[in-house]
Amino acid sequence: MSCRVVVLLSGRGSNFQAIVEATLPIEIVAVISNRPQAAGLAFAREHGLTTVALDHTLHAEREGFDAQLADEIERHQPDLVVLAGYMRILSPAFIYRFEGRLLNIHPSLLPMFPGLKTHERALAEGVKIHGCTVHFVTAQLDHGPIVIQAAVPVRADDTANTLATRVLAQEHQIYPQAIRWFAEGRLLNNDGCVNLKDDLTSQSVLSTGA
Ligand code: GRF
Repeated sequence: MSCRVVVLLSGRGSNFQAIVEATLPIEIVAVISNRPQAAGLAFAREHGLTTVALDHTLHAEREGFDAQLADEIERHQPDLVVLAGYMRILSPAFIYRFEGRLLNIHPSLLPMFPGLKTHERALAEGVKIHGCTVHFVTAQLDHGPIVIQAAVPVRADDTANTLATRVLAQEHQIYPQAIRWFAEGRLLNNDGCVNLKDDLTSQSVLSTGA
């Protein structure tokens, strides 16, 4: 039985596109966006996938919106929920409901630079290596167990845009990889705790000279 995946996104959806194009052993059972105009939703529609737009601006309270979002997700009975550029902080109640089956991609080498504007902050700090991280989501923002990371060198002439472009290319590699491992049952041990199997640890760091 293939792994049922619900994707949440807010914008252009290039990570989602990379996941679709990677032909993984998964079934994308719904793509949900808090922004009805998200380009990622249009891509999903073009691929015949089920899409749902839940406009968060119609809700005054984050908790109320997240409860509706969680109910909608549950309707599709996912094994895994993938945050692919979902640009809203999730409330703790939502996270507890999906903990252990909720993955996120973040454009930095966590635990460095949680939050927004990661590329600008990396340049401002003068780090020589930057990158991206796929991790399980826990209640602490951008701090859950790390599944895989990719590193890129920072160049002297980098701008936030050039750096973002090279990091994004790596995001498109590591997110499909992490989802494949999840679908193959290689990320959780028998009691549902996150536990990278030994043979994965050596594969869970990618680095590129590009
Ligand atoms: C990516 O940089 C991702 O790491 C971050 O939001 C961005 C989404 O880009 N969480 P896209 O919508 O997947 O193109």
